[in-house]
Amino acid sequence: MIVKIVSDFSIIVKPLIIRECLWPECLCNLLKKRICGIVTHYTDRLTKKGKIMAVQIAIIGCGGMANGHLNAYLTIHQAEPGKVELVAMCDEVEERADQFAERVKEVTGKKPAVFNDTDTMLATADLDGADICTSHAHHHINAIKCLNNGVNVMVEKPMGVTVKASHAIINAAKANNKIAATAENIRRMPSRRTAEWLMNEKQMLGDLWTFSAQHASYRAPNPESDWHWRLDLTLGGGGMVMDSGAHYCDTLRYLFGDPSTVYARVCQFEDLRVTKAGEIVKNEQEDTWVATINFKSGVIGLWTCTWAAIGHGFNHVVYYGSEGCLLDDGDIFHGPFDGAEVILKDGTRHSMESLIAEYMASLSDEEKSRLFPHNFTDGVVLECYDFVDAIANNRPPELDAEVGLRAKSICEAIYESNACGQAVDYEEVVAGNIEVYQKPINERWGL
Ligand SMILES: NC(=O)c1ccc[n+]([C@@H]2O[C@H](COP(=O)([O-])OP(=O)(O)OC[C@H]3O[C@@H](n4cnc5c(N)ncnc54)[C@H](O)[C@@H]3O)[C@@H](O)[C@H]2O)c1
Repeated sequence: MIVKIVSDFSIIVKPLIIRECLWPECLCNLLKKRICGIVTHYTDRLTKKGKIMAVQIAIIGCGGMANGHLNAYLTIHQAEPGKVELVAMCDEVEERADQFAERVKEVTGKKPAVFNDTDTMLATADLDGADICTSHAHHHINAIKCLNNGVNVMVEKPMGVTVKASHAIINAAKANNKIAATAENIRRMPSRRTAEWLMNEKQMLGDLWTFSAQHASYRAPNPESDWHWRLDLTLGGGGMVMDSGAHYCDTLRYLFGDPSTVYARVCQFEDLRVTKAGEIVKNEQEDTWVATINFKSGVIGLWTCTWAAIGHGFNHVVYYGSEGCLLDDGDIFHGPFDGAEVILKDGTRHSMESLIAEYMASLSDEEKSRLFPHNFTDGVVLECYDFVDAIANNRPPELDAEVGLRAKSICEAIYESNACGQAVDYEEVVAGNIEVYQKPINERWGL
């Protein structure tokens, strides 16, 4: 259909926008610009045979999580041939990029080009988008290079290593008029979308009041375990508050909107050490945090975690409203899970399974194919599909870099509150006006 629209352009649209018309000039110019933009986008994407080209994607950082992204693009390729083509793999450890490229060849018959640095890749490969799955400190460095070279990006969570790094990505996307998407997989899955629907649309819990997400267990320190970039704050940006925590903070915003203030303590009780190149070095991650998060909507919540709890452990995640609660049955980072249930004032219990079925049935065909194309329900497949489809159709992604910035700003508000010894205003953190904790990380990366 798009091909038809493009080929009809000169017959229908051109005379319309060129001929004198009665509309105000500014409106007319705006319309001309918009129509020409759309037509240029699609004509640029036409192959010699008049077909729309597959979206040409590179993966930068071919490690653990990127493997999930690779499988996702291959799943999309199989469900919708011609939608996406993996044309380049890049990792500073070249063998990893090569292994990914071989996997692509096994499935598609075509081996993507292999690179060990982003600059060479950008100078060589013809790309529509790059999917960035590096260590956190390299998110903004790679994203900005791509955007400045006219390549759209999707960046794994947390968007940038700090708030400033995230702003730098957003600014580069705006300056180059390109997409910067957040690779947030958790909230796209059926039970999370259902939780949002039952709380905000169906209002099953009544007025939303409070939540508690708490974990306690014991992890004995092991100085013989291997160092990893996550354990260095300048590379990781923080510990689990902002690693897996970036998912939960995104889910909290999805369910309750933006926070107003955050008060938190963050500690390392055990003296955590690991082995790096034969030397014992510090593991800089926290092992404990207690955060009170106040939302603009009036919801108040407690998010706590400790891996320094000897003798008794527990895990408890529950959301309360004026009519009942949603009791989760999983960890404090990735829910609400399929095993959750709603318990109402009248004592009735409603399984997440039955609520997912009700939510799915409530969706129109358009909503279903937008939220769960090809009936995909895996969050990584859905985020990759959304990125590719946004590029193909010249539209914003569902979750842009601003969404990533706002989620990670809850994590940063927790660190900043601890560093300042007082509650912090969330919007001040989002704006980058509070940077006691983040200052050394920003300095390390020249931000
Ligand atoms: N969405 C999720 O559920 C989920 C789960 C795990 C990790 N992640 C995220 O995925 C990202 C990667 O984490 P991981 O666990 O896969 O780490 P990893 O260490 O397994 O992989 C990172 C890869 O990036 C490469 N790399 C680092 N800097 C690079 C650069 N400048 N250029 C090219 N390659 C570079 C490394 O060599 C490595 O292969 C992080 O942002 C992490 O938070 C998300």
